Amino acid sequence: MKKILLTILFVLIGAFLIIQLIRPEKNLAKVPSPHDIATALPVPRNIKAVLQNSCYDCHSNNTRYPWYAEVQPIGWFLHDDVIHGKERLNFSEFSRYRLRTQFIKLQQIATEVEDEEMPLPSYLMIHTDAQLSSEQRDHIVAWANAMRDTMKAIHPIDSLQRR
Ligand code: HEC
Repeated sequence: MKKILLTILFVLIGAFLIIQLIRPEKNLAKVPSPHDIATALPVPRNIKAVLQNSCYDCHSNNTRYPWYAEVQPIGWFLHDDVIHGKERLNFSEFSRYRLRTQFIKLQQIATEVEDEEMPLPSYLMIHTDAQLSSEQRDHIVAWANAMRDTMKAIHPIDSLQRR
């Protein structure tokens, strides 16, 4: 009995050690992006600070990795959030989106933040400082809505919305 348990233990340790070798590539751009949202729209400093602190880890080309990202499979799960988060919204590539997409993304940002869907709850369990205060939420929502108004003022509505 003892021998079986020991064998199982060794197999588990072996598997744990082997998976450490499979490391996802890190989301660490070497140069600042020329397509950051701030190149498309005015982003006041306080808004930028909130976005960077609470959203950029999953929605930009640069993630601040905690030490445990080095431990697999935790690193794999973080990688997954970054890949999926960037797919939906990447603040570092924002000015490359078509105007219509930018317009929709701003609306989604307002909705996600207002409904407290973002930042992801699993992220907030560890990054408690990324939790938005109701004041910060109001600021982000007001800013996103104001940016939509700005876009409407600058661009013909046909380029922003399908009729
Ligand atoms: C831990 C990673 C993580 C953080 C931090 C995070 N997000 Fe997300 N976000 C995701 C993932 C993953 C998705 C795609 C899956 C989903 O919608 O749940 C997503 C989706 C979105 C979407 C797209 C929704 C849609 O309908 O396509 C928006 C907008 C968004 N996030 C905004 C934000 C904002 C704003 C913040 C900061 C206040 C933020 N997110 C913080 C991971 C994150």
